[in-house]
Amino acid sequence: MEAASGPKPAARRPKRGELLEVEIESLAFGGRGVARTEGLVVFVAGALPGDRVRAEVTKAKKRFAEARAVELLTPSPDRVADVCVHGGEPCPGAPWQGLAYERQLEHKSDQVGEALRRIGELEGFELEEIVPAAEQWRYRNKLEYSFGEDGDQPTLGFHARGRWDLIVDVDDCHLASAAGNKARDAVRDWAQLGSIRAYDGRAHKGTLRNLVVREGRRTGQIQTRLVTTPSRFPKPPVDLHTTIEGDSGGTDGPTGVLGEERLREELCGLKLEMSHGAFFQTNTEMAERLYGVVAEFAGLSGSERVFDLYCGIGTIGLTLAAQAGEVWGLEIVPEAIADAERNAERNGIENAHFLAANARTGVRPLLVQAGKADVVVIDPPRAGLSQKIVRRLLECEAKKIVYVSCNPTTLAPNAAQLVEAGYRLSRVRPVDMFPQTPHIECVALFEKVAA
Ligand SMILES: C[S@@+](CC[C@H](N)C(=O)[O-])C[C@H]1O[C@@H](n2cnc3c(N)ncnc32)[C@H](O)[C@@H]1O
Repeated sequence: MEAASGPKPAARRPKRGELLEVEIESLAFGGRGVARTEGLVVFVAGALPGDRVRAEVTKAKKRFAEARAVELLTPSPDRVADVCVHGGEPCPGAPWQGLAYERQLEHKSDQVGEALRRIGELEGFELEEIVPAAEQWRYRNKLEYSFGEDGDQPTLGFHARGRWDLIVDVDDCHLASAAGNKARDAVRDWAQLGSIRAYDGRAHKGTLRNLVVREGRRTGQIQTRLVTTPSRFPKPPVDLHTTIEGDSGGTDGPTGVLGEERLREELCGLKLEMSHGAFFQTNTEMAERLYGVVAEFAGLSGSERVFDLYCGIGTIGLTLAAQAGEVWGLEIVPEAIADAERNAERNGIENAHFLAANARTGVRPLLVQAGKADVVVIDPPRAGLSQKIVRRLLECEAKKIVYVSCNPTTLAPNAAQLVEAGYRLSRVRPVDMFPQTPHIECVALFEKVAA
């Protein structure tokens, strides 16, 4: 018998701050748990499928609410023990650590397929097996810490869950290597010895803001960058010192060099250097596998003109250069382009050229300078491409587009636009760059359909 149809009964709209007891059914894009209660869908941060949790409502709309888990009432039978814990709280950088690794891979793969089918309304592509991470822990080559205070002693760690004003001191972060942890501890020791105060955003007083630790995994080099207000204090034991006035949220600002200016790394047989402001994949080992998938999908024969759009320090283009006729990289950050040029020279690569430009306005001048591309590799930030940039991409008239995406929900509409304009989405392969987190990377191959 069919259920009687009719308007759905109105859900009870909870208040902000209200506590709900819910059972998590599944995971949403972005990694939050999904629960249903009294006709309402609740997205719960910090909870996994099968968990029964007490959750505090942070936002309430007509048909859905957002909440954060404040108490784990009954853990999911599928939960595995947390590995990375700071001050009794699970590490904020590893929100999926309670989920067995195989399940993490299944969720990521499913979410790529679901985004392309549901958001992009695409069918007929091959969703290939996800490439698992080489290391499930201690894989990050970059971590950013914040300073706080315990009494009048500076602490150095991560923000407590849902708190902008409380820092949990970190002893051993299992996302960082032992050397990276040691480097952080040395800076904390220096701050404590000198009794240097952490910056207090409410009182607009104090000095220490953040510490960024980067690591050359293959060179063993550790680079530390201290971020402070412009105060006077003893010389810190770091490589770089950034000063920021006022309450800007980030860590970018004028930076002085006290040690080594650039980080050295080795990747796919290349010797690379990068400035602190340039993007570099945070998982070195998996970046190599990711670029391997890009090379496989590009299928170069030695003569092609390849565009590497959103090229950072040029890594994708440089790794493809030996199999291409010529490579052209485009990137908005000028320091990254200077790094890319230096990297090409250092590795004796003469067929790679780089341009500092915004993809929005830079593709047409690139086409005038270089001519049309045979293959375009595109690797945008999480927001993906605007419709206008997709139109510029189409003007390249490439036979193949290899799209590296760190967000399947923004890949999907871009993919639909490319398909609408005459490309076929043939293959998609997810690559797990970020174990213990909901972040999903994948590579998609688009091939021009013959007219
Ligand atoms: C996901 S990273 C990829 C970098 C590089 N392909 C790699 O694998 O290291 C995205 C890059 O796009 C650059 N970017 C962001 N917005 C841009 C824009 N409008 N035009 C050109 N580059 C941009 C960022 O600076 C960053 O280097």
